[in-house]
This record gives sequence, C-alpha cells and structure tokens, in this order.
Amino acid sequence: MCGIVGAVAQRNVVPILIEGLRRLEYRGYDSAGIAILNAGMERVRSVGRVSDLEARAREMHAIAPTGIAHTRWATHGGVSEKNAHPHFSSRDGVEVSVVHNGIIENHEALRARLLGAGYRFVSDTDTEVIAHLLHSHVASGLKLFEAMQRTVRELDGAYAIAAIRVGEPHTVVGSRRGSPLLLGVGESNPEGCENFLASDTSALLQVTRRVAYLEDGDVVRIGTDGYSIVDAEGKPARRPIVESQLSAESIDLGRYEHYMQKEIFEQPGAIANTLEMVTNASSVSAGLFGAEADEIFARTKHILILACGTSYHAGLVAKYWLEAIAGIPVSVEIASEYRYRDSVALPKTLVVTVSQSGETADTLAALQHATTLGLRDSLSICNVPESALVRQSRLRFLTRAGPEIGVASTKAFTTQLTVLFVLALVLARQRRRLAPSREQELLAQLRHLPAAMNHVLACEDAVRHWANRFAPKQHALFLGRGVHFPIAQEGALKLKEISYIHAEAYAAGELKHGPLALVDRDMPVVVVAPNDALIEKLKSNLHEVRARGGELFVFADRDTLIEPSDGINIINLGDHAGLLSPILHVVPLQLLAYHVALVRGTDVDKPRNLANSVTVE
Ligand code: M6R
Repeated sequence: MCGIVGAVAQRNVVPILIEGLRRLEYRGYDSAGIAILNAGMERVRSVGRVSDLEARAREMHAIAPTGIAHTRWATHGGVSEKNAHPHFSSRDGVEVSVVHNGIIENHEALRARLLGAGYRFVSDTDTEVIAHLLHSHVASGLKLFEAMQRTVRELDGAYAIAAIRVGEPHTVVGSRRGSPLLLGVGESNPEGCENFLASDTSALLQVTRRVAYLEDGDVVRIGTDGYSIVDAEGKPARRPIVESQLSAESIDLGRYEHYMQKEIFEQPGAIANTLEMVTNASSVSAGLFGAEADEIFARTKHILILACGTSYHAGLVAKYWLEAIAGIPVSVEIASEYRYRDSVALPKTLVVTVSQSGETADTLAALQHATTLGLRDSLSICNVPESALVRQSRLRFLTRAGPEIGVASTKAFTTQLTVLFVLALVLARQRRRLAPSREQELLAQLRHLPAAMNHVLACEDAVRHWANRFAPKQHALFLGRGVHFPIAQEGALKLKEISYIHAEAYAAGELKHGPLALVDRDMPVVVVAPNDALIEKLKSNLHEVRARGGELFVFADRDTLIEPSDGINIINLGDHAGLLSPILHVVPLQLLAYHVALVRGTDVDKPRNLANSVTVE
C-alpha cells in the first residue's frame, strides 16, 4: 500500500527514487510519481507501473539532487494521473510538493477552510489538503521544517508524509503517525552527506543499510548537512540508527518466475529458521517469547487473538491447538471488527496479534483498543522486527520468513502457524499439561517439519494438472473439518485473491445447512482431507457432494480411506503429520491458487485492487 521515497544528495537522485519505488512495488499500487527540486520544481506522474514512470522521467531528462517519490494505492479518488502523488500547491511565489501515505480523516473540514482561504483543488484526494496547508504555513514565513510541524498538528488520521519546496534546496521534510516512515543515513564526505526517507528499508538497500525508525508524531528534516528530528511535542529527538539485516538477495526473484512461487518454495527454510531457537533446545521455554513471558503466561487465563486476512486464519488454527493442548480458552477476532465492537474484556487475557507486516492499520488499532480496555499483556507474532506492532507489544516472537513480497501471503502464514504451535506447547508445559515424553515427541515432529514440507512440495506437478481444469471455472467450494476448516478458508482466500475465481470455504458438516444447494457438475469442490479423527465424518460429507454431481478434488494423506473414482480426484501428500497437519495441508492449496492464476494470466504477485501491506483502515 502506498510507498514513499525521499532523497537529498550531492548527485542526481532520480535513479535512487525510481529504484526505491521499484523496490516498494510489492506493497501494491496503481499509479506512481516523482517531484524533483532544482531552481524550480518538476513533476512526472503516471498511472500503471513504475517502469512507465521511469520511461517518462527519462524522456523529460529529469536530473536533480533532491526529490520525493510515491506509489499510490487509491483510497480517496479514483486511479488517475491527477490523483497520483506528488501533489503541488503553488501560489504567491511559494511552491510546495507533498507525497502521503494514509488517510486524513478531517480532510473535508480542512478542504472547506482552505477553499475559503482561496486555495483551488485539482484532485479528489485527501492528500491535497496537506499540500495546501503546508503551503499556507510556508507562505506565512515559516521554514519547511517548522511548517510541517505546524501542519501535522492540524491533521487527524494516519499519515506518513514527505515534502519539498522551491527555495529550500537540498531539503526534504517528513512526518509520520500511524503509517511507517524511516530515515536512511547515507554516505558522507567533506562536501556533505546524503540522506533518505522511505516507507521501508527495502527501498533504500541500494544506498544505505543504516536506518532510524521514526516514532508516531515525529517530524524530520534531511539535508546534505545532516538531519534533525523533533517529536510530537516539538522537542529535539534522537532515534537510534540501526544496521538493517535485510539482504539484497532476499528480495531478488532468483530462478523463480514470481515471488509467490519463490515464497511457497522457501517455506521449509523459513520454518527451519523460525524454529532455530526451539529445535536446538531440549525443551520449549517461555523465554522464547521475551523476558517477561514466564510471568505473563503464568497469569494468563484467556487468549484473545487479533489479526486480519491470512493472519486471522492462522489465529483460527491456533484456537484449536491452544484449547486442545494448553487448555486455555481462546477468542479469535477480525481486527477491523474488534476495534469498533463493544466487547467484554476478560481480566488476565493475553492479547496476541498476528501479522506479517506488523504495520496493518486495523491490527494496530485493535491492539490499542484492547489496551484501552485494560488488556495490557500483549504478544506480537510478526515477520518484521522493527514494525510498529512489535514495538507496541510487551512480548514478541519473530517469524523469520524473510521479506514476503508477493501480495498473497504464504511463508508468513506457515511460519506464523509454527510459532503459534510453539506457543501452545509453552503454555501447556507451564500448566503441566505436557508430559516430557509428549514434549519430546512433538519437538521431534517440529524438527521434521521442513523435510515433510519438502515432500509435500513435490506434489506441484499433480496440482498443475488440476489447475488446468480449474481455470475455466467461475466458482469453487473448499471444505475442511476441525483444525483444517481454517485451512480450507485460507485455500479459498488464496484462490480468489490471485485467480479472481469466486471461492467459499465451509466446515464440511455445514454443507447440508445451505451451501449444498450450490453443488452441481460445474462446481469444483476442494477438500482438505487428512487422516485425522474426523476423516470418517468428512467421507460422509463427500458422498453428499458426489450424489449432487459435484466434482471433488481431495488433498489426502498417504493410506487415505478415500478411494479415487469417477468425480473423485485425489492427491496424496505423504504421511499424516498429526497436530502439525494444517501447516502441511495449506501448501497444495497455495500451489493450486498459484497455478490456476498462471493459467488465467493474472498478475500473480500484484493482484488487482490488493496491497501487500494494508496501512490504512
Ligand atoms: O501484514 P498482515 O499479516 O497484518 O496482513 C494482514 C492481511 O492483509 C494479509 O494477511 C492478507 O490477507 C494476505 N496478504 C492475503 O494473502
């Protein structure tokens, strides 16, 4: 979702800005633009890909030592060049340009005021009010840095902003609240230094690894003479400079055609990395989740899991594990619902947020809402160490999946599941519900998980074959039971988001309560069918489908009780993995969605209308 890059240097920053935007493409966008500053300001914007923007910038011979750049994911106002950022405000000899990520909630009131002051609006965006507001403060005689401080005091909502103005060369200012923005500290030499702003580190890896994460309310000024930061109260602030561990290779496509494909096949390694601290130990310990974990877990009587999308599905799986293994009651809530619901806060609740990015606006707001209800024990299971969610949680366990660039979440999901399983073991052990022999057995299964997943990945050819039959369909049903019902939900989400086939998931026992009416020969039914305690029940549900002419596509374990026959297609994945089975059974569903999308020719890594990191509500 919207990406920002800003740069000041003693050299041409246009290639740096364009490359930065290219590296932010994964976040999702529909238009892009840059504004550069020499004696005057120039702007180039385009609907579509960053490569189109680059071609246009080349045509106009854009060269400058200062600039801001943006990829836009439309919220206020449609996808068009006039709505693409940067936005300008120019009047009475003062010119400013602004890029923004987030939503300004009081934009209507500000717009009315600015219209009254004679400003003219040329876009449908909320961002344009920032440009005019900033302009008004600069026009009153303030320097850009002070004008930005004054401006953000008047904004309600979430934002990351970068701005430049004619007359203050070698200067970019920025601010953030609720949306990510970091400072990149570049090379310096006797002539000066170069500094950068960006939505995430990957945008800057080409120029620096030294970054500082801005806090909510911070305003920053970068120049060739250094940088300065003030906090929300306007007091000078220092933010620690850290060396990013992100490697350039981890965001390269390598031998793969798409990031989603790469990330599906990275899962065994991602799980092994995530489990490193667990599988090297002889038993699980609360300390894996942070120094305070032992104490917090000991008083936990109830768990509340908050998440969105795929991460929410991970939470749904975890509920089965946590209740069955640790005996702790668990509620799982969609973050965007929970944050606005009048709920009853149970004392001694551990709030667990699950998120790949750690910047999902709804999940962050849900955590804050839980805190206001008095629930202060929080654990974040997250893939991005420096993210807002991790920083705002008392406990954390980082999934070490590496950057997930494809919009369709895959390796983040399986590593989240792995951590949630470890959480169930830790809590069970602490409550003396896990006999040492059982703990050893489960640890051995965890150690074997990467190998078991490699085995499952070998089903790709068979799945590819099925994909050709799925591709012409308009609808699909996914069925599962018990802990595999959320896996069916995740399979349906994957299929709809990248192949645009309408897919719904049902707990198989629910079929006869409604959805069976949809089943006919045109309705493919995907079944998650491990050899667990519910297999016989599931078999009966499959008969119900076959009796109505529905074609079954069954992902089963070796030695399955389900027989292939006319209308019943089966892929055997391997030995039944017991409690860890959901982590393996989601993999063929990811592969199915990927291959169906390939056949249908959709943009697999950047599906229409979707963004990788959902930083607005
Ligand atoms: O970064 P998060 O895990 O908080 O993101 C939540 C959802 O937006 C995300 O899981 C989304 O559903 C997936 N990208 C879909 O594949």
